[in-house]
Amino acid sequence: MRVPLLDLKAQYETIRSEILPALEEVLESQHFILGPKVGDFEQKVAVYSNCTDAIGVSSGSDALLISLMAEDIGPGDDVITTPYTFFATAGAISRTGATPVFVDIQPDTYNMDPNLIEERITPRTRAIIPVHLYGQCADMWPILDLAGKKGLVVIEDAAQAIGAEYPNETPSRLEICRAGSMGDYGCFSFFPSKNLGGFGDGGMVATNDSDRAERLKILRAHGSKPKYYHKFVGGNFRLDAIQAAVLSVKLRHLDTWTAKRRQNAASYDAAFESSGLVDKGLITLPKAFWKKAIAQNIATENSETRSLSLHDHIYNQYIISTSRRDELRGYLTDRGIGTEIYYPVPLHLQECYLSLGYPPGSFPVSEDAAKRTLALPIYPELTNEQQEYVVDAVCEYFS
Ligand SMILES: Cc1ncc(COP(=O)(O)O)c(C=O)c1O
Repeated sequence: MRVPLLDLKAQYETIRSEILPALEEVLESQHFILGPKVGDFEQKVAVYSNCTDAIGVSSGSDALLISLMAEDIGPGDDVITTPYTFFATAGAISRTGATPVFVDIQPDTYNMDPNLIEERITPRTRAIIPVHLYGQCADMWPILDLAGKKGLVVIEDAAQAIGAEYPNETPSRLEICRAGSMGDYGCFSFFPSKNLGGFGDGGMVATNDSDRAERLKILRAHGSKPKYYHKFVGGNFRLDAIQAAVLSVKLRHLDTWTAKRRQNAASYDAAFESSGLVDKGLITLPKAFWKKAIAQNIATENSETRSLSLHDHIYNQYIISTSRRDELRGYLTDRGIGTEIYYPVPLHLQECYLSLGYPPGSFPVSEDAAKRTLALPIYPELTNEQQEYVVDAVCEYFS
């Protein structure tokens, strides 16, 4: 049996009959850049993410870059983020001329530890970029609270987390917030391997601030408004109509796919827990954190019901952790099972960031995660047989 890490061909088979007419419509219109298809898709993402505005851009990387540009962040500024993320998060900061300042992650969620942020804030600090890694929101309220007190901008890197939910617990009320709707900007990626992936590159910035939305729209077209009159120096950050057409079709299926990913995660959890590997300390499973937080802390009937349907993790990746990661990965590869390491080198130890001056040991939780984490196949089209094959192979390896 072969089990790839992701099977986009299997997904395409299920939506081909919807995709082809949508593509044909774009081809017949010959309107390829921005335009009504993009506008329509932007509105859908805004609604889906509980935001007033969403601005389609060329990639998730550019979503981050244009958000920083919209705040005039540049040389002399610091932006706080995590060293345990895809390079684009910090790369966008560097491309503005600002300096990434890292804080370590929590060991259970792999997301930025809010308790470590304040000590890194200086007069140079302008923004915080929490990353919702693997499909689970960072602990946003302490971050938003601190940012509010210090006057900092919050840019959510929600590239891996479209549709993920985070509960804002107040004593009287439970507010469920969608990834991308909590900070000043929410950045999404539509890279093909994302839960909502296009047929090429694409991204989106969501916001609840109409002034910011307007500025983003101007910046994505070289800062021009009206056409050929340039208020600012922007860039070509436009989303194209073919991506918008494909993504609009896929958005209709996203909740079903997310439910399937969550079901697959629950099956892995149950199988690995009953295998004894977790109790023996041989592997650690991903923690879907926020549902438990609600169940423990808020005991009203309404919140109980809501906690059951809360999409606290949308499992862009299902990540196990083990000290024998590399050997396990080799064993699975030999059995035709696709896996990946997200990410083998934390950003502060990347060659291009050695000049930032963080020696090994600066962020022990991130460095440990980089040695131990392994992504297993979790995509919605994974069959029961394939999943059992993966579980059996992991168990065999440790037996
Ligand atoms: C956390 C994170 N941020 C940013 C990006 C950049 O997105 P894109 O590849 O669309 O530029 C990605 C994509 O992999 C990502 O995972």
